[in-house]
Amino acid sequence: MTSISRERILSSLQAGDLFAGGVHVFDSVDSTNDWALDQLRRGRALPFACIADHQGRGRGRRGRRWLSPAGSNIYMSLGWHFNLPASRLGVFSLAQGRAVVRALNRIGIHDAWLKWPNDVMIGEKKIAGILVETSGVRRDSCNIVAGIGLNYSMPGSAGLDREMRWTDVVHSARGGVPDRNELAAVLLDEAAGLCQRFQASVDEVLKEVESAIDVLKGQVVELGLDDGRWLTGTVLGINGLGELRAEVNGTERVFNSAEVSLRRRDGSRAAGGPC
Ligand code: BTN
Repeated sequence: MTSISRERILSSLQAGDLFAGGVHVFDSVDSTNDWALDQLRRGRALPFACIADHQGRGRGRRGRRWLSPAGSNIYMSLGWHFNLPASRLGVFSLAQGRAVVRALNRIGIHDAWLKWPNDVMIGEKKIAGILVETSGVRRDSCNIVAGIGLNYSMPGSAGLDREMRWTDVVHSARGGVPDRNELAAVLLDEAAGLCQRFQASVDEVLKEVESAIDVLKGQVVELGLDDGRWLTGTVLGINGLGELRAEVNGTERVFNSAEVSLRRRDGSRAAGGPC
């Protein structure tokens, strides 16, 4: 497996000049999101990006861990400043999932789809997850860290949790597997492009995400609450904040990504990492 290389990523990256705070590549960090949050606190110029070959304490949504073996996958975080209220970030984190789908399309994987809130799936298997966190939130602006974990070539031994079905690029690519560094550059370009489009027009990005999430409309799903209960509902769509609208017992209810995980009736879980 080719090692992660800053030179090789930069040579394929189109948006390199955009990153005033640099593109940082590490052999190992605890978590690229933690590194990025720390850099925000220290006042690093924005935007910046960091990519690691290994994470000792990779984090997933809702307090889960994100298995991050060395030499296998892509662990990336972007630091960005938005002149937008933090309340619009529900849409942003969905849209980052869409950016991952676009990156996969560019390398010839056309069957990836976005499952609310921001899991990227191939069939019923998860290939990538997004963790968006904020720092420096003001009324009309915020600094964010957008963390992306993309499974490139997950070792079989990492499938510790048989319940979570995951896949990776190596098993999903048809007609040639792209180099991991080139894919990291494509992913970073798409993620940065999304940040720029999001700042320019949240409503345009919302339209794009609404149509991407259409695949779930009308589906009967189970919604897992923090207290361990599961509700059964029919997906109606998303609202302008990126929250899920679902009909539960004949009443429309709204759920945000911090409160629920989603699974289809057949039991495939939609939130959480490959662990
Ligand atoms: C999820 O689906 O639960 C979100 C997973 C997000 C994982 C990525 S890997 C890069 C970044 N650093 C982290 O610690 N987490 C995110």
